[in-house]
Amino acid sequence: MSANPLAPSWLQPPDDANSLPPAVWSQNVSRAASGELTVAGLGASAIAARFGTPVYVVDEADARSRARGIRESFDREFARVGSSAKVYYAGKAFLSIEVARWMADAGLNIDVCSGGELAVALAAGVDPSRLGLHGNNKSVAEIDRAVRVGLGAIVLDSLVEIERVADAAARHGRIQPVRLRINSGVHASTHEYLATAREDQKFGIPLADAEDVVARIRGHESLAFLGLHSHIGSQIFDTDGFAEAASRLFALHARLLARGPVPELNLGGGFGIAYTSVDTPTPLDEIARRFADIVSTAAAEFGVPVPVVAIEPGRAIIGPSTFTLYEVGTIKDVEVTLPASTGGVAIRKYVSIDGGMSDNIRPALYGADYSARIAGRRSGAGTALVRVAGKHCESGDIVVHAEYLPGDVAPGDLLAVPATGAYCWALANNYNYLGRPPVIAVKDGVARVLIRRETEDDLLRRDTGLAAE
Ligand SMILES: Cc1ncc(COP(=O)(O)O)c(C=O)c1O
Repeated sequence: MSANPLAPSWLQPPDDANSLPPAVWSQNVSRAASGELTVAGLGASAIAARFGTPVYVVDEADARSRARGIRESFDREFARVGSSAKVYYAGKAFLSIEVARWMADAGLNIDVCSGGELAVALAAGVDPSRLGLHGNNKSVAEIDRAVRVGLGAIVLDSLVEIERVADAAARHGRIQPVRLRINSGVHASTHEYLATAREDQKFGIPLADAEDVVARIRGHESLAFLGLHSHIGSQIFDTDGFAEAASRLFALHARLLARGPVPELNLGGGFGIAYTSVDTPTPLDEIARRFADIVSTAAAEFGVPVPVVAIEPGRAIIGPSTFTLYEVGTIKDVEVTLPASTGGVAIRKYVSIDGGMSDNIRPALYGADYSARIAGRRSGAGTALVRVAGKHCESGDIVVHAEYLPGDVAPGDLLAVPATGAYCWALANNYNYLGRPPVIAVKDGVARVLIRRETEDDLLRRDTGLAAE
């Protein structure tokens, strides 16, 4: 099968459009003898019949094992260099009460970045000393609650926050552990990183100002300085950007040690995952090994002890564990005129599903690429280039920009889009008054609801118009 000229150059027609590349799909997804996609022994059609579509389907054992795996890798590698690691799960990727418990069970801490995320982690019964709070504009009420319940760490992001957190801690008679977020000037995306003196963004304190700012933090008796924090971006495939940020932070870390304790260094999250079969992120145990080498080498260079290193991955833990199951509604073959240099026309098949930018806004927001498979059956048909579109009134409402699917894809087919565990439900919205889909977890052939589907009643309940009548 030759490539469709409308396909991006990275996308080649697959040998088998029913295949489920293991890098993109969770560990317990496979095809049954019938050809149907199954997760942990449960078939896609049984899931659709019971929960409806769209539905986010989490492979529970996969999420738990990724959480445990990354913690064990960092424990092992930092023990090798005579230190230890603290792994935070970045709850912004996806947080529910159950997921917070899975992360705590796996020995992870949890990073939250709003009062709402904090409420979920507390409702899950996570020990507050294992929670960290982020954000460039935490409200006074959010800070007060975090201090009152005894949060393990608050990441300070601005000068005004130093005073707010110090006041709250003094009021509650606590000594609040804090980190300081640094704008290191390093920004990384999938394959590259950019290093400037300062990055033009809203987070953190410029590296050049940090020594004075830490002195200010240390001047407050109600604050305990834990160390510096840096987060250089998301969906990062390599460790070079982390190495650059660590080396910039380390010079400061070493200078700060001359004036008082600096037990930790937080290098943030952002480890990339595979969304399509051509994505090749660095495996997490390899990242752990490189982080331990980077930090221990820098510590030796500056003649200081290897600090406890904290990291905050979200996507790498929950992203690959989940797929979204949709039903195909309509299909159109659209004839597209090719550029004059090539001439002629090509067909792009628009496959419209019963969700879209309300359950996965990442393709519309960042041009993110996803892949897809027919889930209810195996097909022997030749492939066709498709674009998976949503049902919203927006031409940019695309879930998968380009994919080869069996050409007999038809209305009523179930379609699964993998790697939707991170920043999909978390960014879900009610555009066009669509209710947000449920999140279900499947383990050992049993499915249960983590977050139920949002109904029309839910949507109408907050509109005061009916009450006014
Ligand atoms: C400060 C901070 N830490 C951690 C993360 C988690 O990133 P990821 O889910 O890509 O690992 C983010 C994501 O935006 C972040 O802003």
